[in-house]
Amino acid sequence: VILCVCLNAALDVTYHLDGELRAGASHRVASQLQRAGGKAINVARLLVDAGSVAAVLAPVGGDTGTMIRTQLAAAGIESQLIEVDGVTRRTLTVVDSRDATVFNEAGPHISEPEWALLLSTFDEQVSGADLVVLAGSLPPGIPADAYRQLTEIAAARGVPSIVDAEAQALALALTGHPYLVKPNLAELATVIGGPLTSPAQIAAAGRELQRRGATNAVISCGSAGLVAVSDSGCWLARAQVMTGNPTGAGDALTAALALGTLADMPWPQRLRDGAGMSAAAVADPVAGHVDPQLRAELTARALVEVIDLPERVA
Ligand SMILES: Nc1ncnc2c1ncn2[C@@H]1O[C@H](COP(=O)(O)OP(=O)(O)OP(=O)(O)O)[C@@H](O)[C@H]1O
Ligand SMILES: [Mg+2]
Repeated sequence: VILCVCLNAALDVTYHLDGELRAGASHRVASQLQRAGGKAINVARLLVDAGSVAAVLAPVGGDTGTMIRTQLAAAGIESQLIEVDGVTRRTLTVVDSRDATVFNEAGPHISEPEWALLLSTFDEQVSGADLVVLAGSLPPGIPADAYRQLTEIAAARGVPSIVDAEAQALALALTGHPYLVKPNLAELATVIGGPLTSPAQIAAAGRELQRRGATNAVISCGSAGLVAVSDSGCWLARAQVMTGNPTGAGDALTAALALGTLADMPWPQRLRDGAGMSAAAVADPVAGHVDPQLRAELTARALVEVIDLPERVA
């Protein structure tokens, strides 16, 4: 089982407008959607859709928390949801005729006893897991080194962790020696300075992530694909450029990398799968959903090439 920890779960609300969004104006909502989200929950959903077994550990509270509980149960995702005093956040995405506009709430305050309960529940759950995914922002109250603490607990039980975070949460996670980190280019820039233009420069920054503690790093570069720096080599992988909804493409890449790790696939194959799965996620109209046939086609045609970089310096 892949244990997906979602510290800042959200009820993702999407409004579709027929016309254009205008500040200061009143709008009629043509259609709306409410979905349990937060990066780690999206990853869990993609894993289950791909036929794997995922479990979610998350703090939830209030009516929005109850809706997340109901939706995860309906999706057949086994979950350990810790009831907290605060109210689970919503995110609001307004999709108009041109674009998508996103509003992200910070999330509920998590108290010290609630964090302690999350840690002890994680400690119980992780011994039965094969792999841990730690993804998304940290809500107020949770210590900035939360991902380091969780990575270290998992490592003590012999379970590798994949971390998708940015800024301080990522910088501190590195010191817990995660198996893999997956920042996008902007997130990488919050931890390692530029320039981050050429694949070789991005790979060099990936080496710096290794120097700071990560065993492997995959840097996602939007439609340009991904750069991977592993303990056995460096690669650039990309699939056909798709139009559609790139939100959640990174979560699809993380899900594919989790599957590749679990199956102990050779790196080039993991990256080909990751490029194909994430490109298929962009093409799918439903965020966080992937058409299996398109995924297979894009994966088969994805390109993986070696990046020449000096050997990792221990
Ligand atoms: N337009 C596109 N066409 C094909 N593949 C894409 C496109 N955009 C993104 N991808 C694929 O998706 C991966 C992840 O994209 P990106 O770097 O935007 O992730 P992200 O910013 O972490 O996304 P999110 O956090 O919203 O899930 C890329 O590495 C690439 O393989
Ligand atoms: Mg991302």
